[in-house]
Amino acid sequence: MADTTDTTAGGVAGDDTRPISGRTGGKASGKASGGKRAGKNAAATAARSGSTGPGGPSKGRTRPDKSTGGPAKDAPATTGGGAGSSRTAGEPEAATATPGAPVDGVSRRRLLGTAGAAGAAALIVGGVAGATGAEAVRGKPTPLTDVGSGVVPFHGTHQSGILQPAQAHGHLVAFDLTGGTDRKGAAALMRRWSAAAAELMAGRPPQGDDSGVALDAGPSSLTVTFGFGRTFFDRVGLTDRRPDALEPLPAFTADVIDGKRSNGDLWVQIGADDALVAFHALRLLQKEAAGAARVRWQMNGFNRTPGATAQPMTGRNLMGQIDGTNNPKPSSADFAQKIFVPDGQQGPESWMAGGSYAVVRRIRMLLDSWDNLSLDRQERVIGRRKSDGAPLSGGTETTRVDLDKMGPDGALAIPGDAHIRVAAPANNRGAAMLRRAFSYHDGFLDDGAPDAGLLFIAWQADPLKGFVPVQRKLDRGDGLSRFLRHEASALFAVPGGCDEGGYVGQHLLEG
Ligand code: HEM
Repeated sequence: MADTTDTTAGGVAGDDTRPISGRTGGKASGKASGGKRAGKNAAATAARSGSTGPGGPSKGRTRPDKSTGGPAKDAPATTGGGAGSSRTAGEPEAATATPGAPVDGVSRRRLLGTAGAAGAAALIVGGVAGATGAEAVRGKPTPLTDVGSGVVPFHGTHQSGILQPAQAHGHLVAFDLTGGTDRKGAAALMRRWSAAAAELMAGRPPQGDDSGVALDAGPSSLTVTFGFGRTFFDRVGLTDRRPDALEPLPAFTADVIDGKRSNGDLWVQIGADDALVAFHALRLLQKEAAGAARVRWQMNGFNRTPGATAQPMTGRNLMGQIDGTNNPKPSSADFAQKIFVPDGQQGPESWMAGGSYAVVRRIRMLLDSWDNLSLDRQERVIGRRKSDGAPLSGGTETTRVDLDKMGPDGALAIPGDAHIRVAAPANNRGAAMLRRAFSYHDGFLDDGAPDAGLLFIAWQADPLKGFVPVQRKLDRGDGLSRFLRHEASALFAVPGGCDEGGYVGQHLLEG
């Protein structure tokens, strides 16, 4: 039976899909100046890869109004601004549209940035969460300006930084609570962090912040995501409310895990399309934690810069492969069920409604060995062409993978140990996760090898039905695993988002 893996629409994550073709730089004039800028090819590519769409450099870029500390008047709406602030056309299509496809030039990132997280989530999960999200984006188009102007709302059903395309710069940082921090102290910290994140994501320096680091920049699609590690629950006396899903991940044979760079009581994922904006958020949250929690480990990552490619494309990793193509599609009926913890759960884990579990792995690539492989061999290790990401069974990047296809030599077109064969949901009882990674490079090791690879982040409603079974399979029979070392590992419960006035984790800490 041929593989039924659906490759018809693009990945959500790991994609850099921001079109630059025909970009206008769009002054923030209230018109969607980038509206028609993506050409036919760009639109087609975006349709499969999760588009985002700031235009080129702009004189009318959005930035905080320094006199008031609020957003400049040309700033895009930040929270719940969807109604009346976004696109006019295509709402019905938007609800059913291929995720990521620019609709009248208004990209998915734009929709996410203007619909409000709840609306955006409803929009992109389509029928799963209901089509009401489409209503939230009805209204006047907002201008597409530049990279700095991208806004993602902090408040909503799900936390940000899961469904949005991975940004150009990322910081992953884990904290341990200090000895004296109890449940009340942890709640106060989450309240401070949530308030600061909401301000930062709106492009406003939080009260009392005069660091100036991000002063001239817009929000740059900043997202801040908070998670709780297994040990958090012991520290704050809530062991009875710890989800079973936070059971430690099993050891895998290819693991060379450094405990000091693994796990942690709290986790913060920061992503932004500007390095200073990302650092500013990191530094501010670290300062807010003073006395309550201290940094346990930190990792820095990156992706392709928005607009770096001539047309929207799925991003590449440091092995040069197009990575993210076959992520679960928000348009598929079971997307929400596979990625998010459902509402209406009774019992001690009900606080996780709308949340997700993040598996974080620092995976070093053995690039010297990899680079010694011929192109043909590299492609057979993955099962896809390097140039355009097309499966070796034929077609283009988005063509359905045919695992049964035989080559002219009578052998399987996609080898038995190819990464996409071993990892495919069809070969893992439907196990699926949303991969949203950052690349990293931390210099060179003593032997001259690059200390570089992937900050792999997998999102799922239950790690035992997502990452764990797939990694078990990969650990045993994956051609790619020979070129990888898993050097750090962590698992976090990432609660649902919060409403204005609330904070992330409130249902746990005050429930
Ligand atoms: C540095 C490590 C890794 C690299 C470089 C890598 C690279 C890739 C590439 C190039 C693809 C094909 C394009 C795509 O569909 O995204 C792919 C697919 C995939 N990878 Fe990985 N991967 C890595 C680690 C992992 C891990 C640890 C897992 C899960 C435990 C995983 C799960 C998957 C899945 C589920 C697919 C889609 C398979 C399909 O249905 O076609 N990958 N990966």
